[in-house]
Order: sequence, then structure tokens, then C-alpha cells
Amino acid sequence: MIRNAVIKDIKEIHSLLKIYGERGELLPRPLSKLYDHVRDFWVYEDDGKVLGCCALQFCWDDLAEIRSLAVNPEHERKKIGTKLVERALSEAIAFNIKHVFTLTYRPGFFQRFGFEKIDRSELPLKIWADCILCIKFPDCDETAMMKVIM
Ligand SMILES: CC(C)(COP(=O)(O)OP(=O)(O)OC[C@H]1O[C@@H](n2cnc3c(N)ncnc32)[C@H](O)[C@@H]1OP(=O)(O)O)[C@@H](O)C(=O)NCCC(=O)NCCS
Repeated sequence: MIRNAVIKDIKEIHSLLKIYGERGELLPRPLSKLYDHVRDFWVYEDDGKVLGCCALQFCWDDLAEIRSLAVNPEHERKKIGTKLVERALSEAIAFNIKHVFTLTYRPGFFQRFGFEKIDRSELPLKIWADCILCIKFPDCDETAMMKVIM
């Protein structure tokens, strides 16, 4: 089941993101940042174990980012990722957010939800908030994608 993340989930979220961070597939996030943003997260829990996580981070009055989406590699392709993204999108709608973006190495997955590729330069706030601190900046090879919510 999907639920809002709580403080006790942070260590499991951190380990999940670290798996893909070490593979270079996701931006790892320090524990301190995860505690800062615990209220942005949902987790998919099964039998008391966190198998997936996803965050929706508000950036401006009509812009939010889906980030830190990760599913335990042993539990992929069971629709956990889909349910987490659908949960984040319904939250964006509830907050009347018109534009949801993500930076990803899995554009094919996000296209299924109506995300379209955009040029990273369309995301100035994001670049100056996060990217400038990233070890890959300015040579980021993630795909920037945007979903316009009607
Ligand atoms: C991307 C990710 C979240 C998908 O989670 P998941 O639970 O395995 O995905 P789902 O089971 O919900 O997949 C749903 C569908 O998307 C498709 N899909 C999954 N990953 C895909 C990809 N990389 N490209 C294209 N389609 C993909 C699957 O084929 C599946 O279709 P099906 O219904 O025909 O089986 C997971 O692979 C992951 O954690 N990846 C590493 C981290 C990452 O890249 N996060 C996204 C960036 S924020």
C-alpha cells in the first residue's frame, strides 16, 4: 500500500536511493535533505518493508518536480512505480499545479503518463536550485520531461 512517508522511513528511503545512486541512475540525496523533505515523500510498503518511494517537490506556484522515484530492484515491474507516480500526480492536481517535471534516465517510463521531453533550459529554477550543486553539472545526461496538467 502507498502512504505518506514518516520519519522512520527515511533510512530505508536513503538506502533505496543509494542503490540507484551508485549505479548513476538517480541523484543520491544526503540523509539531512531527506529529513528536510520527508513530507514530500510517499512510500510503497508491503509487509512492513518499504519497496518504493517517490517525492513531489513544489518549485513555484504552478510548477512541481517528481523526483527520487525508486522501486526495490527485486520488486520492479509490479506496478509499484506506476502507483507512486499516479499518487504524486493526483497530489499535484489537488494543489492546482499545472506543470510537473522530472529529470530521468527512464524517459520511456514517464512517457506512459503523458510526460514529454523538454529542453533543460526551460527549467531555470531547478537548475539554479539543484543542478548547480550536482557533480555532473553542467554535463548532465538525464532527460528533462514535463507533463502539463489540464
Ligand atoms: C523506473 C521505475 C520507477 C519503474 O518502476 P516499476 O515499479 O518497475 O514500474 P511499473 O511496474 O509500474 O512499470 C509500469 C510499466 O512501465 C514500463 N516501464 C518500466 N520501466 C520502463 C522504462 N525504463 N522504459 C519504458 N517503459 C518502462 C513497464 O514495461 C511497465 O509496462 P507493462 O505494464 O507493460 O509491464 C524503476 O524501474 C526504478 O526505480 N528505476 C530506477 C530509478 C529511476 O530511474 N527512477 C526514475 C527517475 S526519478
